[in-house]
Amino acid sequence: MSNRKILVTSALPYANGPIHIGHMLEYLQTDMWVRFQKQRGHTCHYVCADDTHGTPIMLKADREGITPEQLIAQVAKEHTRDFSNFGVAFDNYHSTHSEENKYFSSLIYTRLRDAGHISSRTITQAYDPVKEMFLPDRFIKGDCPKCGATEQYGDGCEVCGANYASSELKNAVSAISGEKPIDKESVHYFFNLADFAVMLKDWTTAGHLQPEVRNKLAEWLDSGLQQWDISRDAPYFGFEIPDAPHKYFYVWLDAPIGYMASFKNLCDKQGLDFDAFWAKDSKTELYHFIGKDIIYFHALFWPAMLQGADFRTPSAIFAHGFLTVNGEKMSKSRGTFITARTYLDHLNPEYLRYYFAAKLGAGVDDLDLNFDDFSQRVNSDLVGKVVNIGSRCSGFIAKRFDNRLSDALAEPQLWAEFIEANEIIAEFYENREFAKAMREIMALADKANRYIDEKKPWLIAKEEGKEAELQAVCTMGLNLFRVLVAYLKPVVPTLSYSAEVFLNCEVHGWIDELEPLLNHELNDFIPLMTRVEPDKIAAIIEASKENLEKTAAPVVKEKQFSPIANTIDINDFGKLDLRIAKILKAESVEGADKLLHLTVDIGDETRSIFAGIKSAYSPEQLEGHLTLVIANLAPRKMRFGLSEGMVLAAGGDDGIYLLSPDSGAVAGMRVK
Ligand code: 2FM
Ligand code: ZN
Repeated sequence: MSNRKILVTSALPYANGPIHIGHMLEYLQTDMWVRFQKQRGHTCHYVCADDTHGTPIMLKADREGITPEQLIAQVAKEHTRDFSNFGVAFDNYHSTHSEENKYFSSLIYTRLRDAGHISSRTITQAYDPVKEMFLPDRFIKGDCPKCGATEQYGDGCEVCGANYASSELKNAVSAISGEKPIDKESVHYFFNLADFAVMLKDWTTAGHLQPEVRNKLAEWLDSGLQQWDISRDAPYFGFEIPDAPHKYFYVWLDAPIGYMASFKNLCDKQGLDFDAFWAKDSKTELYHFIGKDIIYFHALFWPAMLQGADFRTPSAIFAHGFLTVNGEKMSKSRGTFITARTYLDHLNPEYLRYYFAAKLGAGVDDLDLNFDDFSQRVNSDLVGKVVNIGSRCSGFIAKRFDNRLSDALAEPQLWAEFIEANEIIAEFYENREFAKAMREIMALADKANRYIDEKKPWLIAKEEGKEAELQAVCTMGLNLFRVLVAYLKPVVPTLSYSAEVFLNCEVHGWIDELEPLLNHELNDFIPLMTRVEPDKIAAIIEASKENLEKTAAPVVKEKQFSPIANTIDINDFGKLDLRIAKILKAESVEGADKLLHLTVDIGDETRSIFAGIKSAYSPEQLEGHLTLVIANLAPRKMRFGLSEGMVLAAGGDDGIYLLSPDSGAVAGMRVK
């Protein structure tokens, strides 16, 4: 088997939210495939990164009163912890907001531009005159032009499923400020995808794609390739386009380049040869695991960009379907929108690794996580079939033979059969037919259990003078157990590792190289895996519903800008406890660029309030000043402490102006 050089990626998760089990479907299958390649002895690098740019991340940071850099640093910590706890062993996890990514994004862009593949023209787009920014479709709300449903976004109607241009929405407003968007012109940069029509026709039919993906691509190619808008206007969190001040690369331009950037970062750390993997004449393999929703970017734009900028194109794109839970789309209200962290708080990650493997094929079909099926498969396969062999045989070897195995195999034929299965199992893993591989392994586990059932070591143990037979049967059983856990190593690495500790022997390579353990001393058996506890599943569902309650506040806040509720009545106004407040103390907040920590006197008490006004006021300027606060705003837990109200200010990007009362007002006066 010659040594292959392989670079593998999973799609880069956005840095504006937690990893959930839908994401895990991708990272786990990639990780299993990479672990398999490594176990086969190939050189395989697995890289990923957080996808950090774009409007949603910029706005989220804004809402939280922190900088986008702070937000992405915080999210990176959470993401890497979740991945590592699930056993996803990236060789490198980087960020698209990195020097390497900036370098390669500029390089690819300038090469495309110099080769004549970039053009620019003026386009008209929706603009939020209050927030002073262009609005992506999903930040425009209004009534669906097809079914009339209210509160629908510019990128499609959730009620009737219609797709439309955001300009078709009725009663459209900005979801950020609530203001009616205006049309505004600006110059945009475009990648001329049509220049690559011939290349893409060839590439998409040359074996780099799954058949169903290739067919979809043929439809898109037949309907003609449009220019791709790769620029966004400031304000935008991203990289400025080299020759276009205040224009930024659209997040999807620099996201796949993040694969290169993460790998470059790894090369610099480990002295690897970057060009061997990315130069046009590269002989290495490059695979991207992605969800089926982002095929367009990976199978059209990305190969064209690489080709146009003189880099190699991917060896293959492996697309997969979506995860449903209990037969339905993951839903927050049903408690099935399960974050990686919530799962990890209650269940062993290797249950999910095995369950996904037991159901995954090489196609793009959706995969359903059915919790009854999940428990049943894990309990019956991993615990009931595999772990059980170890526990059935280890007791006798420990108690009667001082943990030593006998010096010959009782059934060499059975051992040979287990080893010979390596070819078909390897073929299934290689082709990402994980479910078929698991079926094959479990069929072997059934055979091993049958062997033990037939030999009945528990009866042999009771007979006089049958010591050697007892030791031989258990030695055979444990050797078969060892082969099984070696086959399962890419899927359940922790279980396999614990089994290797018990067996006192690590498996390094693929199973064709395995020799039986004979006349070998074991360590004491350690419990390898317990059955899935049903109450843990119930706890996950419950906790996921609680997550929903915890996140309810910001959703309600956004609804203040609802197009239907754009007036309030006198009763609504009466709910506000607006008061004159005296700023007693103002301090900077360590780690927050925009925030000041204010201590204010509101008449009957003092309050601690965090306000995003640092760009306009220095702390000294404020002490002793009168201003207005909303005193009955529910306290909000911020990263830096509890904020017990809100000070009122006017303005936005052009400056911030604290509201203050006319002279004569005193702290504690109510606004009527
Ligand atoms: O769809 C997504 O979640 C994107 N963040 C995936 C990016 S993959 C790659 F191109 F960076
Ligand atoms: Zn509709």
